[in-house]
Amino acid sequence: MEIIYQEKEKRFHLRNDSISYIFQVEKDKYLQHCYFGPALTSYHQSNPPQFIDRGFNTNPISSERTFSLNTLPLETSTQGSLDYRIANYQFLNQAGNSVTAFEYESYRIYDGKPRLSELPTLRGSKAKTLEIVLIDSIQQLKMILHYSIFTDSSAITRSVTFENLSNTAIYLENAGSLMLDLPRCDYDLVTLNGAHTNEANITRQKLHPGIQRIDSNRGTSSPQHQPFLALANWNTTENSGEVMAFHLIYSGNFIAQVEVEQYGTSRVQMGINPDTFSWKLDPKAIFQTPEAVMVYSTTGFNGMSQTFHHLYQEHLVPKTWQKKERPILLNTWEGNYFDFTETDLLNQADKAKELGIELFVLDDGWFGQRNDDTKALGDWFENTTKIPSKITGLAEKIHEKGLQFGLWFEPEMISKESLLFNKHPEWALQVPNYPLTQGRQQLVLDFSKEAVQDFIIDMLTGYLQTGKIDYIKWDMNRHLTEVGNLTLPQDQQQEIAHRYVLGLYRILQTLTTKFPEVLFENCSSGGGRFDPGMMAYMPQTWTSDNSDALCRTRIQSGYSYLYPPIMMGAHVSDVPNHQVGRITPLKTRGLIAMSGNFGYELAINQQSETTLSEIKKQIQFYKKHRQLLQFGDFYRLLLPTETAACAWLFKNEDEALVVYFHGLAQPAQKANYLKTYYLDHDALYQEVNSQAVFSGAELNHAGLLIPRIKGDFETCYFHFKKITSTKTV
Ligand code: DGJ
Repeated sequence: MEIIYQEKEKRFHLRNDSISYIFQVEKDKYLQHCYFGPALTSYHQSNPPQFIDRGFNTNPISSERTFSLNTLPLETSTQGSLDYRIANYQFLNQAGNSVTAFEYESYRIYDGKPRLSELPTLRGSKAKTLEIVLIDSIQQLKMILHYSIFTDSSAITRSVTFENLSNTAIYLENAGSLMLDLPRCDYDLVTLNGAHTNEANITRQKLHPGIQRIDSNRGTSSPQHQPFLALANWNTTENSGEVMAFHLIYSGNFIAQVEVEQYGTSRVQMGINPDTFSWKLDPKAIFQTPEAVMVYSTTGFNGMSQTFHHLYQEHLVPKTWQKKERPILLNTWEGNYFDFTETDLLNQADKAKELGIELFVLDDGWFGQRNDDTKALGDWFENTTKIPSKITGLAEKIHEKGLQFGLWFEPEMISKESLLFNKHPEWALQVPNYPLTQGRQQLVLDFSKEAVQDFIIDMLTGYLQTGKIDYIKWDMNRHLTEVGNLTLPQDQQQEIAHRYVLGLYRILQTLTTKFPEVLFENCSSGGGRFDPGMMAYMPQTWTSDNSDALCRTRIQSGYSYLYPPIMMGAHVSDVPNHQVGRITPLKTRGLIAMSGNFGYELAINQQSETTLSEIKKQIQFYKKHRQLLQFGDFYRLLLPTETAACAWLFKNEDEALVVYFHGLAQPAQKANYLKTYYLDHDALYQEVNSQAVFSGAELNHAGLLIPRIKGDFETCYFHFKKITSTKTV
């Protein structure tokens, strides 16, 4: 991996074994983008921009009518000065205009990669960083573009720092993290869209002239859109072809957009959503944008996913959890909702222990007057009618049974009907004279306020320092409204949405640093805030409130575009399923849940002996394969549709597990050969149950006959052990 500066051409080349990213300084001022793609050993500008005197060109050098910033591929840009395409940043000065004229000033290359102040970032021990300084000397503004490249990844990270060098405050109205100009527009745009209980649908459509945009203005990254987009060649598949993917490490309002402009080029832009953002940059103040990740794959969407999975496991999640096996949990939510007593819980824990479960998680309903979802958020003290031994006592009893203990919180919320709201009504987000809008009958705490942040830090520290809590489920069940407060002046009210996210990160940073051994699970009604920002603190997420096995094949496949299975909480729940009413076999529910971060969420004391004995076997099976399922490489072999099959492959050096989900049973079944694509070509594998031996190459290319399956939603698996690394027959 290296970052080369070619003095004569004023050209920067970031390169490792798989990718190159190249741009250069043009006319001593402008940053002209040259190339992003497979690694180049050297670059001599075979693809210069086409300089033509075009109608409606605006020219920074009036006599050079072929040179226009409106058509030049750029590294960053704004509107109001020469470029009309989507902007990556925008200032508003006190004279009321947005014109700036940033020019290249200097660069710096160094080993490693800095942590961004107040924001989550990828760790960079195996990275190099390039910083480009641009200056607007008229208004005394500074902008630094940061680029980092890793030794072992087809990824580059980008972010921007803005600094006000002048003596007058100026407003930053748009602070994008990434902009990339591409010479073509014949791409498919791929995004992950959804809703509560229907997250991460893979959507693929052709780019067309104009702007295509996804975003969130809800205060969180949202289940509606993942802060991600990819551009793929039209013929790119799961297993082949080129993809460029962009993902923002941020948990608040974002924008991700592509503009196809007049001459058939496209511009990708990504960052904080400017619609809900403005930042007062006081004299000498600095603003740092979130970090964006760009991935280049020449091996289709599975190749893209491999890069994200490794990058996030190795450089993003808290170090303690990188390689640490995750416990099999029993969560009380779907089995109990708000209705439980301490005795019930202890009985369930006994049963859980008998079955081989390792972590007992008490979900919502344990605190204040919380007997339904209308009240008590904020009153984070035990309801002693339900739990006479209090949390510490209960946790001790659970530990004595040989289980770990986990507890649910929804720290960002406050119920109108709560002691906390009576004491601190000013702690809810609010705008004077307007009603406080409720969602799930709750309000949102103003996490932009340090006093509120400290209250949550102290409250959670109180529980965690007892040493009795091994796991926290951090939930967040509504989006932000009336994003204002009575503290900040009028010209800073538009900062609150971003300050909220910074407040959240401060709390998470403080708690996870103080208590690195506690496993935090991220949740926002399932995958409502499943984003890399949250994963920097919490190594796993409750993927969806939809626990139906069929729906989960689609949801988990969608999220697997970006996140490895270990990051996706997946539980076996009861049938008929509580969200969609479907009945699926227990075996299927088990295998689909094991293909994520495995657990159970059902009334364990109400199950038949047959069910319990099957659960026990599932758990034994999972423990045997846990290393492979949690830390192996994961590939999608078949993407599910509403009715049809889905197949996943888990693979490590020595073995592989194929999980095949059949969907709806069909008459007149055709012979069904499943190609494994990714087994070691030259190795011989033995399928453990049938003892049959196959070469990796034949499984990859000829495929494996799936036995005839009768019945809806059946599943089967194949466990392959490598018996030789070179095929001998
Ligand atoms: C939403 C979560 O996604 C559920 O798993 C559960 O924790 C409920 N909230 C509790 O209110």
